[in-house]
Amino acid sequence: MDKEQCIKDYNKKIKRIIISEEEIKEAIKQAGEKISASYDGRPILLVSILKGSFVFLADICRAISVPCEIGFMCAKSYYEGTVSSGIVRITMDLDRDISKYHVIIIEDIVDTGRTLNDIVKLLKSRNPLSLKVVTLLDKPDRRLVDFKADMALFTIPDFFVIGYGLDCAENYRNLPYIAEYDTEVD
Ligand code: PRP
Repeated sequence: MDKEQCIKDYNKKIKRIIISEEEIKEAIKQAGEKISASYDGRPILLVSILKGSFVFLADICRAISVPCEIGFMCAKSYYEGTVSSGIVRITMDLDRDISKYHVIIIEDIVDTGRTLNDIVKLLKSRNPLSLKVVTLLDKPDRRLVDFKADMALFTIPDFFVIGYGLDCAENYRNLPYIAEYDTEVD
């Protein structure tokens, strides 16, 4: 297949923009200000849950004006077809003791809630000074466990969303906005 056809096929799955770059930027600016205002002189550790949150982490850390450190964890939800199996695996863990940090988990989306439910339990057991969850997107209609983020920048209906870190089969993470993926177009 030629280059133009590949690009055309790729782009035609992007149904419509749901949240623009400008809207994301403004929401992150406000979230960064709130996080900065919560600083009490003890270190903040932003924990990015890979892969989906890498773009959000990069932007929100630069909207924070107080000292903060960055850590990474990788979690994978396993699916059978399109249905979540309910199994969440930590495939990469943090590289440090978190007991001296105010930990803020940075996540791209809360869907069923299973990933964060498991990660929060795990990190709480390590006794951080405090633990909060900031998510870019919240899809409450899809929740299967009782989980609520401390801060959700956008609440969205049950669309299949891509972009700004979120993927479909590992593609579209580099879109600078959040879009609806077209599941109808082949
Ligand atoms: C996605 C997303 C969240 C999780 C949310 O990760 O980044 O971590 O699913 O879903 P849940 O609330 O139903 O648990 P995914 O496992 O697709 O991996 P990725 O971040 O590498 O895309």
